[in-house]
Amino acid sequence: MDSSLKGNSCLLRRQPFPLYIYPMNGYSYNTYTYTQTYIMKLFLDTAIVSDIEERLSSGLIAGITTNPTLIRKSGRDPWKVYTDIIELGVEDLSIEVNGETSKELIENGVAVNKNYGNVATIKLPCTIEGLKACKYLSNIGIRVNMTLIFSVSQAILCSLAGATYISPFIGRMDDNSLTGLSLIADIADVFKKQEIKTQILAASVRDVQSVGKAFELGANICTIPPKVFDNMADHVLTTKGLEQFNADFLA
Ligand code: E4P
Repeated sequence: MDSSLKGNSCLLRRQPFPLYIYPMNGYSYNTYTYTQTYIMKLFLDTAIVSDIEERLSSGLIAGITTNPTLIRKSGRDPWKVYTDIIELGVEDLSIEVNGETSKELIENGVAVNKNYGNVATIKLPCTIEGLKACKYLSNIGIRVNMTLIFSVSQAILCSLAGATYISPFIGRMDDNSLTGLSLIADIADVFKKQEIKTQILAASVRDVQSVGKAFELGANICTIPPKVFDNMADHVLTTKGLEQFNADFLA
């Protein structure tokens, strides 16, 4: 890949050969199709199976994140929720495990992996015990999402522990008079300079504007509530313009 196209941001990848050649102003131009790489992804942040089912059919959702609070709010047995989500065809489901020690976290992470296989990404807290468990699970090939990230130093430790994802909680930072999006930029800067493969999964995203900004600043993935996903497609001028076009179709 062109070196200018490397990094953590949302990028377009040029195909290795021209797909179309067409004449323009008497000259032939080689044009290349640009396709979005796997780098920029949207996950849904919910444990409500019907909410996932409704939106998964768009083909735009690459994964699901859950947490104990979202599971509790669903009012259902966690294992049934995970099974139902996986049966919908989700390929990457973050499942948070509980434990005081790294041993407990590892045991619980391995158990989840045995149950759900590689669809399950094990979500661990960014504590020393969580980091030890992350190192172990990552070394045996289990994806880990390190959650509750609020600083660059935590992000660095998670990357050293081999985490597949880190989840900075931008909304919760904003709630506490910190700038969540600045953290995304700071982590992305370090990861880019150090060529770190751990992906930045912007979490605790509360509005549409933050999604665009998080990707602009270097997030690889945004996990968003269903409502934010719906709002991403909406624009008052699209609605208004479409009304006019539809009326003109019939005129
Ligand atoms: C992500 O993994 C978390 O589940 C989630 O984004 C937390 O969001 P909240 O701060 O809105 O609870």
